[in-house]
Amino acid sequence: MLRIAITGVSGRMGQSLVKAVDLCEKTQLTVAVCRPESKVCGKDAGEIAGIGASGIRIASDLSAAVEQFDVLIDFTRPETSMAYIDICHRAAKNIVIGTTGYAEQQKAAIAVASQEIPIILAPNMSVGVNLTLKLLQMTAAVMGSDTDIEVIEAHHRNKVDAPSGTALRMGEVIADTLGRSLTECAVYGREGHTGIRDRKTIGFSTIRGGDIVGEHTVMFASDGERVEISHKASSRMTFANGAVKAALWLHGRQNGLYDMQDVLDLKKLLMTTAE
Ligand SMILES: NC(=O)c1ccc[n+]([C@@H]2O[C@H](COP(=O)([O-])OP(=O)(O)OC[C@H]3O[C@@H](n4cnc5c(N)ncnc54)[C@H](OP(=O)(O)O)[C@@H]3O)[C@@H](O)[C@H]2O)c1
Repeated sequence: MLRIAITGVSGRMGQSLVKAVDLCEKTQLTVAVCRPESKVCGKDAGEIAGIGASGIRIASDLSAAVEQFDVLIDFTRPETSMAYIDICHRAAKNIVIGTTGYAEQQKAAIAVASQEIPIILAPNMSVGVNLTLKLLQMTAAVMGSDTDIEVIEAHHRNKVDAPSGTALRMGEVIADTLGRSLTECAVYGREGHTGIRDRKTIGFSTIRGGDIVGEHTVMFASDGERVEISHKASSRMTFANGAVKAALWLHGRQNGLYDMQDVLDLKKLLMTTAE
């Protein structure tokens, strides 16, 4: 049994992760962590997640529990997660990171830590989204230079970062395929007198509302036709199950920074497609 620690257990993803770890016969929740000020401190992790008593009390200090888990799964906030990553780095523990919204400096610090521990960093853990990234790569290679590319994403009203980490990843994949730099070609939202569209840009539009779990559409539009590639998530369990799959895959790997394309072996699929 792979022993799993989950941080941010009071969160939407934290609760889904507790359920997913419980449902998987190869994993066992051994550590559940919240921030010291969290209302769930000292409560039972299973009860908070709505699956009944698990016998795991939610603690506020991850460093005191490092001997009790093999892999940490973290879906929290960048600032908090950097402290959790530091604890895992010092204790030589594997980490699956689903948190989004990192600054470039934080991403660089994660890359440095991955030289000494295995880390998966993936802004979207769903199998469908990761397959979608492959489809985007193929579409960009065939028609990206001759089309206007727009990324449209929608999420629930409580999401705090925009565009979503997944939308940015989609933009990066397309930009890389076209030999562009996303930093230079991204256009975030439009307002007022924008002038005509420059074909070399990649546009991003963000919608926030209600309880939308996560929807992404990428449009490749030219004169006379357009291709739209969409993914719609209807349950957070898709991300939680992906994170558990990632934790199992990561166990026993060499140090390094991996993503869900590695976990799902999609990089090989790309090579086959390109050949
Ligand atoms: N990679 C993926 O597939 C994927 C999918 C969905 C969401 N996400 C990302 O996962 C993260 C969590 O999403 P969520 O919807 O579960 O969010 P959420 O419901 O707001 O939960 C986040 C939890 O993180 C903890 N936390 C730590 N520091 C915090 C801070 N400064 N402010 C607020 N909460 C803090 C809290 O738990 P405690 O009080 O228990 O510590 C909180 O309940 C986000 O970055 C989101 O974008 C990734």
